[in-house]
Amino acid sequence: MSNTRHKKNSEYKKGKHLVLIGFMGSGKTSIGRSMSYKLKRAFYDTDKMIEEKEGVTISEIFATKGEKYFRELETKVLREVREDKIPRIYSLGGGTPVSLQNQPLIKTIGTVVYLRLSPEEVWERLKGDTTRPLLQCDDPLAKIKNLMSLRAPAYERCADIIIDNGSKDRDDVIKEILGELEKRGWEIPPESYPAASNKDNTENNE
Ligand code: S3P
Repeated sequence: MSNTRHKKNSEYKKGKHLVLIGFMGSGKTSIGRSMSYKLKRAFYDTDKMIEEKEGVTISEIFATKGEKYFRELETKVLREVREDKIPRIYSLGGGTPVSLQNQPLIKTIGTVVYLRLSPEEVWERLKGDTTRPLLQCDDPLAKIKNLMSLRAPAYERCADIIIDNGSKDRDDVIKEILGELEKRGWEIPPESYPAASNKDNTENNE
């Protein structure tokens, strides 16, 4: 069996979801929506799934129940995603890949795309944002730098595909991801194919 064939088969055995990971502000939601249109699949954001289940925002969960509780919810949601047999696009919270118990789960649920940005690029995008509890501190850029250096190895471990999403045009990023998926045996539906009928769950995000 050729290497390509072997690779295609081994990825075929993984779950069929497209999974977007990356730091806060890395563009998971906007890229996820565009990919939803291109792949004709519904798009879900696991943070929104958590908020819907708990009936409160992520900030409220951090404030009232703490980060540890939130991290447990992230693992629970990942287990649900693993059981979801309909191929979809899932965007994960920026901290989800950090947990050692989440990493094998993430790797089995689908093809994982890591959207990579520098700390400065993240900061440019998130200046003034009040919805990320971890960045409500005196020096958010220093916090971003610190968290990013701690997390980058985890993102890289989980990723099948790494895309630099800092300064590129969104259409070029989409093309790059589609090209990488095709190399891995994904069939990209023609533009004329009807879009996924169900709406994504991310209306107010990013
Ligand atoms: C977090 C990222 C957030 C959200 C929570 C914690 C993190 O998601 O899950 O605020 O630890 O990086 P986004 O990456 O979608 O902003």
